[in-house]
Amino acid sequence: MLDQLDHMLEQAQKALENSRDLAELDEWRVRYFGKKSELTEIFKEIGKLPGDERPLAGKRANEVKTALERAYEERVEVLKGLQRDALLQERFDVTLPGRPIDVGRLHISTQTLRNIYGIFAKMGFQVFEAPEVETELNNFELLNMPPGHPARDMWDTFYTTREGILLRSHTSPGQIRAMRKYCPNPIRVILPGKCYRYEQVSSRSDFMFYQVEGLALGRRITLADLKGSMIEFSRLMFGADREVRFRCSYFPFTEPSVEVDIDCILCGGKGCSVCKQTGWLEILGAGMVHPVVLENGGYDPGTFSGYAFGMGPERIAMLRYRINDIRYFFSNDLRFLRQF
Ligand code: PHE
Repeated sequence: MLDQLDHMLEQAQKALENSRDLAELDEWRVRYFGKKSELTEIFKEIGKLPGDERPLAGKRANEVKTALERAYEERVEVLKGLQRDALLQERFDVTLPGRPIDVGRLHISTQTLRNIYGIFAKMGFQVFEAPEVETELNNFELLNMPPGHPARDMWDTFYTTREGILLRSHTSPGQIRAMRKYCPNPIRVILPGKCYRYEQVSSRSDFMFYQVEGLALGRRITLADLKGSMIEFSRLMFGADREVRFRCSYFPFTEPSVEVDIDCILCGGKGCSVCKQTGWLEILGAGMVHPVVLENGGYDPGTFSGYAFGMGPERIAMLRYRINDIRYFFSNDLRFLRQF
């Protein structure tokens, strides 16, 4: 019986190698494992063997069975692979050149943000992230605008149903967070992110937009430093021969406050429709950090001073690429986005 088993195993293995497709393989399975197979017969015979021969024969029969099962599984995989390859050759011309993959591109706001990061990185500014959902405290009060302060009207704000929680209307509350994190050390950070305003949407203002805030704090920082950094930024962003102008302005959290203009990139200052005949384009607001704000951030205004600025990258991109409607930025029209 042991010889019979070995002989059968050899035969079955040969037959298995000769099977050429899954149908033949199935025939093989019925033949060698089926109810009427030799193996089934052998198992029946083993029961009738004298007691002392039974264990050895049973052991060998089981070994043969396992070996055949394993060989069968392996052959299934091989034949499946062959079948797949044949199918592929039939359906695809593998010599055809591949289809180009459209990898997409960075959004114009992201590109502009990265330009801004790059310029300020050269001046030693690190990116600092602050949340879009803010407290009224950070967005207004600690920026020197107590409840009821008329300057709060400069920002039309989305309030949430939670008392004291709002969508930040500018990135300036991040100044407080940066100061409280780094106090009492000097600071040089830019704070990019989305801001929200409860405003009539128009070609010039959207209810959501990006801002990049800047904050530099140290022991002897003056308005001259602010001017120098803003001139450097303007020329790197808009061209080396840009004229830069500083106008007096007002923000509750800076004193003095300025607005920064560059000479019109379209007409060079002669006056045109883009600059509304003024020859100048406003690019950002800035100023020396107000002593009250320094104190709220944990710094002693007697020893520390600093400047802050805030700009809108969409507005900057609009000037750079002469885009005449801010609503294009977030309406996801690919005809617009693909141009950058
Ligand atoms: N937060 C101001 C705004 O949104 C801009 C600004 C930032 C002005 C920092 C001065 C200093 O209009």
